[in-house]
Amino acid sequence: MTDFLIAPSILSADFARLGEEVDNVLAAGADVVHFDVMDNHYVPNLTIGPLVCAALRKHGVTAPIDVHLMVKPVDRIIPDFAEAGASYITFHPEGSEHVDRSLQLIQQCGCKSGLVFNPSTPLDVLEYVIDKVDMILLMSVNPGFGGQRFIAKTLDKLKSARQIIANNGGDIRLEVDGGVTVDNIADIARAGADTFVAGSAVFGAANAEDANKYDSVIAKMRQELAQALADI
Ligand code: DX5
Ligand code: ZN
Repeated sequence: MTDFLIAPSILSADFARLGEEVDNVLAAGADVVHFDVMDNHYVPNLTIGPLVCAALRKHGVTAPIDVHLMVKPVDRIIPDFAEAGASYITFHPEGSEHVDRSLQLIQQCGCKSGLVFNPSTPLDVLEYVIDKVDMILLMSVNPGFGGQRFIAKTLDKLKSARQIIANNGGDIRLEVDGGVTVDNIADIARAGADTFVAGSAVFGAANAEDANKYDSVIAKMRQELAQALADI
C-alpha cells in the first residue's frame, strides 16, 4: 500500500462538453473516470449507457473507466460495457439475482469486477465471493444523485471492509462514493479507502472559464491524502 486514486464522477460534469471535461480532470491529475449508470428503476434517476463510454474511448480517453452500475438487472448490460471500453464494472448485489454469476461474467469479459454496498447493506455477501471481487465500493450516500452529504457511519464500515480485505490477503481496491470533499478525504483515507470518487467537489469546483479549474481541487485532495498517509 498505498496508491491512492482519485476518481471524479462525471455525473457532475457538463455533459454538453463531456470529452473536454474528462480531458481537463485527467490533465489536472485525476487517475480514474467514474461513470455512473442509472436506470430509473434500481435508482430514481436516469443517466448514461455504453454508447457514452465508447464515445469517451473514441475521443481518446485512455485512463481507466470505472463503470458504476445502478441498474437492475445487470447481466444484459455487462458485455456491452466491456465492449465499450470499461475497465472496472461494479454493481449492487440487490441488482442481480445471481451475484456470483454476474461477477464471473464481468471478469470473463476482461474487466475488473466490483460489488457496491449501499449505506444500509451489510458486507456479508462478500464472504463466499471475495475471490471474484477486484473492488469493493462503499456508498457513503444513497445512490441516485450527486451533491449529497457524506454519511459518517461509512468510516466504520470502511474499517470493516479493510479488515476483510486484509484477512483475505487479496489485491482488492476499496473505493468510497458520495459526499467526498477536500475536508473529509483524509479521514476517509485513514479509515481504509484507497480510491475516492468525487463528483460535485471536483466538477463544481471552479468557474468554467478557467482552463486549469480542476488543478487546485485535485492538488488539495492530494495534499490531504499525503497527510493521511503520514498518519497511517
Ligand atoms: C451517486 C453516484 C456518485 C455521485 C457522487 O449515486 O454514485 O458517484 O456522482 O457525487 P458527489 O461526489 O457529488 O456526492
Ligand atoms: Zn458512483
